[in-house]
Amino acid sequence: QATYPFEGEHQAGITTPVQRHLYFAAYDLTANATRDDLRTLLEDWTEAARHLAQGREVGETGAVGGSPLAPPEDTGEALGLGPNGLTITFGLGPALFEPGRLGLEKKRPALFEPLPSFALELLDEATSGGDLCVQACANDPQVAVHAIRNLSRIAFGRAQIRWAQLGYGRTSSTTRDQATPRNLMGFKDGTRNIKADEADELAAHVWSGGEGQDWFAGGTYLVTRKIQMLIESWDRTRLDEQEAIIGRDKGKGAPLSGDTEFTEPDFEAVSTATGDKAIPMDAHVRLAHPDFNTGQRMLRRGYNYVEGNNALGQTSAGLFFIAFQKSPRQFIDIQNALARDPLNEYIRHVASGFFAVPRGVRGGEHVAQDLFA
Ligand code: HEM
Repeated sequence: QATYPFEGEHQAGITTPVQRHLYFAAYDLTANATRDDLRTLLEDWTEAARHLAQGREVGETGAVGGSPLAPPEDTGEALGLGPNGLTITFGLGPALFEPGRLGLEKKRPALFEPLPSFALELLDEATSGGDLCVQACANDPQVAVHAIRNLSRIAFGRAQIRWAQLGYGRTSSTTRDQATPRNLMGFKDGTRNIKADEADELAAHVWSGGEGQDWFAGGTYLVTRKIQMLIESWDRTRLDEQEAIIGRDKGKGAPLSGDTEFTEPDFEAVSTATGDKAIPMDAHVRLAHPDFNTGQRMLRRGYNYVEGNNALGQTSAGLFFIAFQKSPRQFIDIQNALARDPLNEYIRHVASGFFAVPRGVRGGEHVAQDLFA
């Protein structure tokens, strides 16, 4: 069973080898919560997360060691399951820094403004945004759900869940020894992701220098997008059209220009009678590629989701897209470039989240400690 340390230079759950399951929750502070409530909540959450990452119960007495006359400190459903690779990653929403709210306006990183709106999105407010977020990833879904459930319980009176998302099946890899998984369109996803051992790429594209705010140095911006897929329409689309839309071969995941999955795409290649294929001008991998986005990249760490069917019998499923980047600009520019992606005929962004993820903790620190200095 994998165990990942909770402490470190950066928070766990970003470059950590992507686990199989996700439970992601966004929280709003209660209406009258103060800066002190936020600080003590982060203190209590950090303490609980230290326990959870080691597969221990939360609190002093856990699930069954306390008084029979009191509710147990830990809810108990993860007893015996161990850490199961659990990572817990905390983020702060832009609204915490609004002037006059918590007195944190001077601590706002310069680039931390709400995301602009994008072409074709149809966002549901109730399942977007939030003051805080917690990403729990584990190899057993019960372990991830247990973590969020117990953190929500600890937050009672200070913050409550605004929305939550269960994800199964990773759609990305962050290490070379993980096989590239597939998203629900059946394509390998994460081939050209930034990997954990690419220190220069992480420094260039993921870890923030802080933008003049000490508390944010070593942090990163987290963007989530709930992207609904029109699965039934996709499944009636010809294979060659599917491959042209993505710009990669469906079986091996190789670029249409040829060779193997990890061969660099050749965007100059032309289609020939002998079967060589050009990568179309509007293929997803061309529009999203750093060569056409001023060199910008991001670390993607999304999950598949399926939530039953709608009233028309269509599957309610898609990609819960998660990306970490040094600047919101990376997501904004690439998402804008995707406005003319033919994939848009088969997808719709229905919810959005945007958070600043502070650096990792050491010793007795709590998450975002320097924010309150
Ligand atoms: C690459 C699918 C949405 C950014 C890819 C690849 C696939 C894929 C199959 C090729 C494999 C790889 O290198 O990972 C999808 C699907 C989406 C989606 C099905 C929606 C449901 C997005 C969004 C963004 C994005 C919203 C960012 C705004 C990227 C980037 C790459 C990529 C940066 C790598 C490009 C490169 O460096 O070659 N995507 N994607 N994707 N996608 Fe997406």
